[in-house]
Amino acid sequence: MSFPSVRMRRLRRSEALRRLSREARLSRDDLVLPLFAVEGTRVRQPVASMPGVFRLSPDEIAEEAKRVADLGIPALILFGVPAAKDARGSGADRADGIAKRAAPELCVITDVCLCEYTDHGHCGVIENGEVANDPSLERLAAAAVSHARAGADVVAPSDMMDGRVGAIRRALDESGFAEVAILAYAAKYASAFYGPFREAAESAPAFGDRRGYQMDPPNRREALREMELDLAEGADVLMVKPALPYLDVLAEARRRFEVPLAAYHVSGEYAMLMAAAERGWLDGTRAMLEALVSIKRAGADWILTYAAKEVAARLAP
Ligand code: PBG
Repeated sequence: MSFPSVRMRRLRRSEALRRLSREARLSRDDLVLPLFAVEGTRVRQPVASMPGVFRLSPDEIAEEAKRVADLGIPALILFGVPAAKDARGSGADRADGIAKRAAPELCVITDVCLCEYTDHGHCGVIENGEVANDPSLERLAAAAVSHARAGADVVAPSDMMDGRVGAIRRALDESGFAEVAILAYAAKYASAFYGPFREAAESAPAFGDRRGYQMDPPNRREALREMELDLAEGADVLMVKPALPYLDVLAEARRRFEVPLAAYHVSGEYAMLMAAAERGWLDGTRAMLEALVSIKRAGADWILTYAAKEVAARLAP
């Protein structure tokens, strides 16, 4: 059968029909809100390149965590932005439990990386002018254990060192945190779309770039291999990052793996929508919802987005 007996438009005629025929639905249950934690009290610094995003001191993080829980968002992911940085990222394993105490029912995820804590801004420690893989694992594992001790439910390594998921799993288990899950930034690309994040986290590398450890954007097979390895090392959830430029990778991962998948709609993806909306070049809310549902359609279960609060407020419970 085909036209004229088949008419695809029949089921698009009304909102009721469209609702009945809708295949993917964005829900508050999918959302994870990223937050940037700085030191001090009553600090609420706007991030210029990310309208609506602030760097918050611990007291403000606590209040934000309550708001996030009240909106029905299940999780937040915390990024620490320390006042003092050094070569080994000493601040990385000094986590505070404030968000978990403020909203115990929330799932608190913490980003495990060294770039926010190192003075050189790289995600690992430097030896002979290079980001040294194996010596970084110990520091990352220490950071993860410190986050678990502070109440993290899930730790999320974003450094892209080889073997870090296994090192973190072992360290957590040995420290009595067998119940803490690992969300692995498994397919994390060396992307231009992290630009605004690096302003927020003051984590731009002081020399070179991250292409020696993050993935080369044209590669898809390699991403699947990264994911397989992270699973084998004990990852509970696999992430693709950024989201929209890599939906093919996400869709392929959905076909291949049985674990929950996460996708990070990153700072640059958020910033470009907000910037165009500010200029009146597109309808920001509609464009954001369309972008996020495309991530859901491609197969993500957890969606990390800076727009989580606005989106949750618009979605029916
Ligand atoms: C830390 C980290 C980055 C992001 C998440 N964790 C930056 C980077 O790798 O340079 C980016 C998130 C975003 O852009 O929203 N390694």
